[in-house]
Amino acid sequence: MVVIAVDGPSGSGKSSVSKGVARRLGLAYLDTGAMYRAATLWAMDAVGDLADAERVAAAVRGMPLEMGLDPDAPAVRLDGRDVSAAIRTTEVSTEVSKVATNLDVRAELRRRQREIIDVAAQAAGIVAEGRDITTVVAPDADARVLLTASEEARLRRRSLEVHGAADAAAVEATRDQVVRRDRDDATVSQFQVAADGVVTVDSSDLDLEETIEAVLAVVAQ
Ligand code: CDP
Repeated sequence: MVVIAVDGPSGSGKSSVSKGVARRLGLAYLDTGAMYRAATLWAMDAVGDLADAERVAAAVRGMPLEMGLDPDAPAVRLDGRDVSAAIRTTEVSTEVSKVATNLDVRAELRRRQREIIDVAAQAAGIVAEGRDITTVVAPDADARVLLTASEEARLRRRSLEVHGAADAAAVEATRDQVVRRDRDDATVSQFQVAADGVVTVDSSDLDLEETIEAVLAVVAQ
């Protein structure tokens, strides 16, 4: 019934916010970043050399991926195995942009994402989050939000998530994950400036609940 698209850079809080919105509205939840992470894990095992674009794309086309859509437990399964934790390692985070900038991989994952969204839209609906959902995957979504936050706020949040601390050393250790990855990702998807019709929500000075409320206000418009 309702499709909500949320894009944003790393540390913008888009996963927690999107899950919260899905929970509040009783909708399914799709983490498209988890699909790129699963593709990276799969290609690291199946191909090894992630620079071999053709073999990586072929491996991803055959990838037996199942996405859990429950916002309370969005399990990711590869060949029946729960890889929800394995796709969040530093190794996958460091390598994921190499796979996500492979245009044949993007075509395959976007096709699967549209399929999942179409099926969910026949039921209650879905919140789908990523980097290119508002612009490419679901440009006709009922509500489209770009979640932003200052670099400082994004580094602090990601540092707390990954290192459990946000002192100067922990923030520095997170910088590559956030700043370099966003720069690499920006070469293939434009997620740092809102496209026409996309509403920007800046979460720099909002807590999780306040950000969820701000997105719900956009949905209600
Ligand atoms: O760590 P963070 O939550 O920022 O990233 P993620 O949402 O888990 O996405 C991981 C990676 O997948 C991103 O760095 C992008 O390279 C890629 N991605 C993409 O290219 N397009 C999407 N729609 C979603 C993610």
